[in-house]
Amino acid sequence: MKCRIIAILGTRPEAIKLAVVIQELRRRSEEFEVVIVHTGQHRTMLDQAMQLFKIKPDFDLDVMRPNQTLSSLTGRVVDTVENACRRSEPHVILVQGDTTTAFASALAAYYLQIPVAHVEAGLRSKDIYNPFPEEVNRRLVAVMSEIHFAPTALARDNLLEEGVPSQKIVVTGNTVVDTLRALADLPRSWQNTPLGGIPSDDCRLVLVTSHRRESWGAAQESMCLALKDLVERHPDIRVIYPVHMNPNVRSTVTSLLAGTERIHLTDPLDYLTFVSLLQRSFLVLTDSGGVQEEAPTFRKPVLVMRKVTERPEASQFGMAKIIGTSRDDIVSEAERLLNDREEYRDMSEGENPYGDGHGSERIVEAIARWYQKKTPLLEPDKEFKLPPKPHPRRRKDDFVEASGKATAAGKS
Ligand code: UD1
Ligand code: UDP
Repeated sequence: MKCRIIAILGTRPEAIKLAVVIQELRRRSEEFEVVIVHTGQHRTMLDQAMQLFKIKPDFDLDVMRPNQTLSSLTGRVVDTVENACRRSEPHVILVQGDTTTAFASALAAYYLQIPVAHVEAGLRSKDIYNPFPEEVNRRLVAVMSEIHFAPTALARDNLLEEGVPSQKIVVTGNTVVDTLRALADLPRSWQNTPLGGIPSDDCRLVLVTSHRRESWGAAQESMCLALKDLVERHPDIRVIYPVHMNPNVRSTVTSLLAGTERIHLTDPLDYLTFVSLLQRSFLVLTDSGGVQEEAPTFRKPVLVMRKVTERPEASQFGMAKIIGTSRDDIVSEAERLLNDREEYRDMSEGENPYGDGHGSERIVEAIARWYQKKTPLLEPDKEFKLPPKPHPRRRKDDFVEASGKATAAGKS
């Protein structure tokens, strides 16, 4: 009998990171039957990604409401995913990451005693309000999971520390690196994209994204004011800022930045256009999890506008820095990279520490072995190993602590 697996998606990053796993499951169609459940936590932003990866949901649960609260969203996801599980009777459900979709779907499966396999397990900031509510979502999924796909050794160690048995953990590499490798040609021209109107001159491009709930309000405002300062002080840069659909983010960003010279606000970009923008950018300022993991593939320095990250590997490799959200810190840290070539060169060296492009193969192989009751889930020599660290020339105090907390800039 084939292994019947429900793959759950609800938000943009889940589609981007699970599409490659779904493709691999389909490639092994003699062993697996895949049912795709789209909770609809995001509508436009997820549908954009689903079209690109040609994923058609078998169930579309349509839970999104404008400006939804976490409680109402959670309730709707638990309820509707339970129904989808009852109808499909899967052997296992696959959830990804730390969203409400992932947490509430795992809960629905747990109530029905269906095993949960968790992709991107074990990331921890160790601060339950940063990122909020994702840190707790991800921990709760771990409590309910039967198989834990930890992207890196650090994530595995976090799970071991919490008492997860080692035989239930597989170190896979983050599947977003597989996605980047699988992409078709990126657009060479931006003419028919939302970036079409941006003048092509010699300006250096600063890519900005932000959406975290813990930054809504004052922190989001100071990020915007820092961007204004930067374009005023540096006539040779353009800021390109695809603004998240969340109305709490959009209202602050548009009221403070719309119409500012050399700051280009756009709607969310389709993934190919976004990645091509990343590739052409000089520098990235973000609070996004996925963008932190993607930028090292293109050796783009990332300044992480958060107090703490659950993804400290790029900082430990010297390719990213956690800078907090204060206006002064954002300006001064960005200026170090804009003004100092050595600083810039030091942060743009090294291999992506999050994955090697084979995460989805490892995940699917481990599920197949689990279904056949084989052990170990994956031979240890087949697990993802970190690439060598780039040679650090920088001063020691610039490195982030292993915990992923900002050093100089934990001030915000
Ligand atoms: C969610 C995830 C976050 C993830 C992010 C990815 C939770 C708690 N948060 O945050 O972990 O990093 O997605 O982007 O799961 N909206 C639209 N159209 C869309 C998407 C959103 O209009 O396509 C608007 C709606 O008004 C919606 C609001 O954005 O109510 C917030 O969406 P929600 O999924 O609740 O949280 P995010 O802040 O997007
Ligand atoms: N992304 C995109 N278009 C955009 C902004 C981001 O396709 O306009 C992609 C980005 O490449 C990354 C993912 O969306 O893969 C990150 O999503 P988001 O920042 O919304 O969520 P997070 O990763 O923080 O959970």
